[in-house]
Amino acid sequence: MKELSTPASSVLPLSQKFCDWLKLRTFNDPQLVKLATQCQRWANAFKNSEAPRWLTIMGNSGTGKTHCARRLWNYAKERSNWSKMDFMPKVIYWPDFVQELRSGHAYEFRNELKRWPVLFLDDIGAERDPSGFASEEMHTLLGCRMNRWTLITSNKSPDALAAIDQRIFSRIIRGPNIAVNVNTQDYSAR
Ligand SMILES: Nc1ncnc2c1ncn2[C@@H]1O[C@H](COP(=O)(O)OP(=O)(O)OP(=O)(O)O)[C@@H](O)[C@H]1O
Ligand SMILES: [Mg+2]
Repeated sequence: MKELSTPASSVLPLSQKFCDWLKLRTFNDPQLVKLATQCQRWANAFKNSEAPRWLTIMGNSGTGKTHCARRLWNYAKERSNWSKMDFMPKVIYWPDFVQELRSGHAYEFRNELKRWPVLFLDDIGAERDPSGFASEEMHTLLGCRMNRWTLITSNKSPDALAAIDQRIFSRIIRGPNIAVNVNTQDYSAR
């Protein structure tokens, strides 16, 4: 699997202050240092009002994906303007949200998500999707979120995510969007 993250040489080194803020223990594990470094890039871009971009965190269970994305979400949410939105900002746990959509609810909400100043989609690709409904929804939503601040986590490997939707995957890994694949031990097993 090719390395997804931008080469370390072109990225600011991870600051201890940021790592403390993120509350991610790295155990000097290069995979966790890489994760925190990519979170720092996204946070700095947001803070400096650079071009909006996505951060997609992939990897196995218990590696801190949701932990990090939630921290960034809380930060970005507080600093975004929600005045033109009808719905309260919240984390979108993708498998549950797909269930709501399947049952015919949440279509207005879904349309608003396309415009949210920042969006956090947790656990994409974790849902059962025999009909392709979920991947269709993901395609439409993320297709509308180019150049908008977006946080995504997935338990799927990059290859598995690419198999679900090649076009969306190619956006996930295309700059200025940031993608990181965390391949390490489950935190609870440390
Ligand atoms: N490196 C870490 N330092 C501190 N806490 C961590 C770390 N990694 C995980 N945790 C904690 O472990 C728990 C599980 O982490 P998290 O929910 O982020 O996993 P995940 O990668 O999203 O897993 P899944 O793919 O199952 O959703 C959380 O309570 C999180 O705060
Ligand atoms: Mg998670």
